[in-house]
Amino acid sequence: MEVTVVGTGYVGLVTGVCFAEVGYNVTCFDIDENKINTLSEGKCPIYEPGLEEMLQKNLKEGRLHFSADSKSACARADFIFVAVGTPENEDGSANLDYLDAAIAEIGANLVNDTMLVIKSTVPVGTNERIFQKLQQIISSRLNVKVVSNPEFLREGSGILDTFHADRIVIGADDREAGGAVAKIYEPFGLPILQTDIRSAELIKYASNAFLATKISFINEVANLCEHTGANIEDVAKGMGMDQRIGSQFLKAGIGYGGSCFPKDTKALEKLTDYYQYDFKILRSVIEVNSRQKQQLFHKAKEMLGSLKGKRTAVLGLAFKPHTDDIREAPAIELIAQLLEENADVSVFDPAASEKGKVLFGSQLYYADNVDAAIKGAEVVFIMTEWPQIVQYELQKFNLFMRDPVIFDGRNCYDLDMAEKAGLTYISVGRKAIIASHHSESLGR
Ligand SMILES: NC(=O)c1ccc[n+]([C@@H]2O[C@H](COP(=O)([O-])OP(=O)(O)OC[C@H]3O[C@@H](n4cnc5c(N)ncnc54)[C@H](O)[C@@H]3O)[C@@H](O)[C@H]2O)c1
Repeated sequence: MEVTVVGTGYVGLVTGVCFAEVGYNVTCFDIDENKINTLSEGKCPIYEPGLEEMLQKNLKEGRLHFSADSKSACARADFIFVAVGTPENEDGSANLDYLDAAIAEIGANLVNDTMLVIKSTVPVGTNERIFQKLQQIISSRLNVKVVSNPEFLREGSGILDTFHADRIVIGADDREAGGAVAKIYEPFGLPILQTDIRSAELIKYASNAFLATKISFINEVANLCEHTGANIEDVAKGMGMDQRIGSQFLKAGIGYGGSCFPKDTKALEKLTDYYQYDFKILRSVIEVNSRQKQQLFHKAKEMLGSLKGKRTAVLGLAFKPHTDDIREAPAIELIAQLLEENADVSVFDPAASEKGKVLFGSQLYYADNVDAAIKGAEVVFIMTEWPQIVQYELQKFNLFMRDPVIFDGRNCYDLDMAEKAGLTYISVGRKAIIASHHSESLGR
């Protein structure tokens, strides 16, 4: 069985490596030659736990190949999985330019019957459009089917999620084609849901929008906690113990980021516009999230006044721990605001500093650890709950900072411990702890 994966980003690379791991002969194709060269040397260009080891193993055992040549990669494949990016257009809609280019490239190179499986997240109707487009490009003697197979892996646990996914969704209007794709997933032994093609496309967007809704909902409850004096950790725990609600995605914080939730909620909103359907909850979810992302900055401004020239440390750049992805990360928006205020900013992230450098260059100081980032700082913002940050000894804030003021967007620390450590500690949906020496200067 020859499997080709087109687009070797987070999804394509994990998919390709995992397919090789279960025994298929896999070629991963990408237009980015540098990436292909890096991968061919067994080096992983993204941070994803366990991926590099599995990649090297399968390269060595000869089941995994990387190519920047679409002709050799696509011509004879039995299955072509497409996992190119579908980023956000300026108006919020899904940008399908990469996908269209990939389809044109694949179509031009096909010489065999093949199954084109679309893993990229695409608006309802896209797979049908791809099929029609292909019919115009390929030779009439070729039999090419298009199947939707949206991806649900989470960055930071991509391998684990691929082998232990809750479900594989396969959308096809042709039962035989859907069955063939289901067969390729058999070695994973996972639950498979086969649907029509449009439902599969919508399952992906609806799932992400629902998870984003849970996050925005709990963030609203957290904000209400700050008004009422309740504690969001207890409230979320009490809610989550109800199995109808469930405890996952009930962690209050500074809003969702990453490469999926922000763009997928907006793309779904655009889709509802197209069908002139007013999806009220979805609009609120997006609005609440963009407000939440500003929250720590506003709290800091309200409390400290001007941040001009203030030594400020930002702990965490990635949108969540165990990934180097900073796309739409709350930290990025915060840093941009701090720089606009002319604050003096140092940052620490165990994996995402290189990506931060591409965005902010020499405007920031990139520290190798928390100690170095907070040394001499007056204000700390916690933006990602990396273990190195969550497990950081609270007394060290006193050791390395002058009169530490900590704004924690991820509720990393216990309130009693923060109080005992004598810190001024502002988190989300919980009582603000103001150190006694600050109570006058901060107007409390
Ligand atoms: N990242 C995630 O956690 C995640 C999870 C589920 C679904 N998705 C969806 O999967 C898709 C891919 O996401 P990603 O995060 O892996 O993207 P990515 O940006 O990390 O990778 C996309 C890759 O496609 C390559 N590419 C672009 N045009 C190409 C072409 N014409 N031919 C070959 N390669 C091409 C790029 O060079 C890049 O390497 C998106 O639709 C995304 O919404 C992502």
